[in-house]
Amino acid sequence: MHVHRFEKLWIGLSLFLIASFIGIVLFGFTVMDLKVPGVEQGKPVDPTTVLSKGAFANPGVRKIEENHYEVYMVAQQFLFRPGTGQPLVLPADTKVTFHLTSPDVIHGFEVPGTNLNSMVIPGQIATFTTRFPEPKTYGLICHEYCGAAHHNMKGEIKIVPKSEFDESNLISR
Ligand code: CUA
Repeated sequence: MHVHRFEKLWIGLSLFLIASFIGIVLFGFTVMDLKVPGVEQGKPVDPTTVLSKGAFANPGVRKIEENHYEVYMVAQQFLFRPGTGQPLVLPADTKVTFHLTSPDVIHGFEVPGTNLNSMVIPGQIATFTTRFPEPKTYGLICHEYCGAAHHNMKGEIKIVPKSEFDESNLISR
């Protein structure tokens, strides 16, 4: 059977693209160590009890060690706790580990102007670590359609200089 030269070219290009896509995914999971939400934590949570027991029953900022804080945050219809109403306050140039979960439906967590972007899935904990370089106020939005007031689900993250960070509002571990 004769296959035209251009036909061969397009078949070759298509195969190359498919191989590239598979390669990029493998590269992400191996070399870049990307993870899907929940995998890091290993154990799923029960969304029906997550608000009544454990760290998410008392969401907020905790201190792990000097220069390392963690944030337990609940995304629910239609707010972030903490973050909505009052801004979540964190120190600049400090390691911050976020733990997110949802008791109801899938939400999104995005901080525009940064690379912070995660889905928040009921029954799973999304964990990631970041560092905000300097004092600045960021918006916080839900980017997964989660119901009638999805468009109103937003909050604020206020980054203050390390020296002005008030540790009296921390939650004890
Ligand atoms: Cu929560 Cu959209």
